[in-house]
Amino acid sequence: MSQKNASPKIKNSEESFHHSTQALNSFAPRLLAWFETSGRHDLPWQQHQTDTPNPYIVWLSEVMLQQTQVTTVLPYFARFMASFPTVQDLAAADWDTIAEHWAGMGYYARARNLHKGAKQLVEVINETGDFPQTLAGWEAIAGVGPSTAGAIMAMGLHKYGVICDGNVKRVLTRWAAIDGDITKSATNKELWALAERLTPKENSGLFAQAMMDMGATLCVRRNPACSSCPLKEDCIAHAKGREMDYPVKAKKKPKPSKFSNALLIENAKGEILWLQRPDTGIWGGLWSLPLEFVEKVDGKTASKIVNNQTDDRQRLDVRSNEKIYETEFTTAEQIINEWLIENNLVAKSVSNTLLDDAPIKHSLTHFHWYLQPQRLVLDSEKIAELKGKLNAADIEFKWLDNKKAQDSLGLPRAMVKVLEI
Ligand code: ADE
Repeated sequence: MSQKNASPKIKNSEESFHHSTQALNSFAPRLLAWFETSGRHDLPWQQHQTDTPNPYIVWLSEVMLQQTQVTTVLPYFARFMASFPTVQDLAAADWDTIAEHWAGMGYYARARNLHKGAKQLVEVINETGDFPQTLAGWEAIAGVGPSTAGAIMAMGLHKYGVICDGNVKRVLTRWAAIDGDITKSATNKELWALAERLTPKENSGLFAQAMMDMGATLCVRRNPACSSCPLKEDCIAHAKGREMDYPVKAKKKPKPSKFSNALLIENAKGEILWLQRPDTGIWGGLWSLPLEFVEKVDGKTASKIVNNQTDDRQRLDVRSNEKIYETEFTTAEQIINEWLIENNLVAKSVSNTLLDDAPIKHSLTHFHWYLQPQRLVLDSEKIAELKGKLNAADIEFKWLDNKKAQDSLGLPRAMVKVLEI
């Protein structure tokens, strides 16, 4: 087969769109009329009612809204704007302050990209006198993909921009009954082509905002409010009563599980040892308790693994046969684990549950994480010894009581759950 034939065929002629020209042309006016009367107009990042849009606000909010719902984002957005009213403020902030502002929203790579992106934006502004003015300029910023870039062009600059994020894909696959798997690039191209065809050349920002609202309030994943929808007359999925069959998405493999002890290593003052995690990997750059990864040996028992050697002192019963996620330690955790073993120090479980019922179950992108808090109080001599080990290896650590840790460190949600137990 020639190269040409191997690539997916996306016809851009009008007949490839499943709807008549009249239906395609009336999509935007119908959506905008609905948005005007029934849409949300008071979200703090919306820029459709101003003549002087602020791209910083749109960029910041769009990154926050990429994987988090509006109601969750609202207070975070307010705190970010209060602390970092301009992109220069955000770029100049130190990482710990940003992490602390972001803590609890998850997907921390977004926060790291936000910081990196702010620095890149300040560079562009220093060079050109303004924010990027093109789609390619925005796509070059860390954490900004094609849909976010389109949203910023349209809503943040009032220029032409097309959005096609998860919500838009749901609306469009239903309206046009697009049966392809949305994780496939051919379907993605088809959806982008349709989104482009439907986006008006003028006022694409208002259209983008209306599409987002529609996806978030009417055409929701479960129980869509079809009776209020301005597109119900020619929504093909609705006509067939098949709204819930869209979007078509390949089933994800079940997530593996990972089991860890979260060590509450305490000094005589009741302060606990906190480690800053390396920039790469899970919870990159955030503060965490030292973790001990616990591996299931045969589906019934589990042992603490230290440097690939099983330490039988810590055998724990495990009931399920779930797949164990591969073990990984940070350098600091390896040092602490080895030191605990050498000194015959054993942390005590804060609760007596079996590992599978570990009090904290935290779901991350690629696995479920079961955390079992374990407490160990050390005398001052041992504390000094441990500090020496960590200092010698150039490890960042702090001793803080519960309250100070929660108030002053950017902690992942799972760590807050451990402290609240
Ligand atoms: N989701 C992503 N961007 C949004 C926005 N600007 N308004 C509402 N929901 C959104």
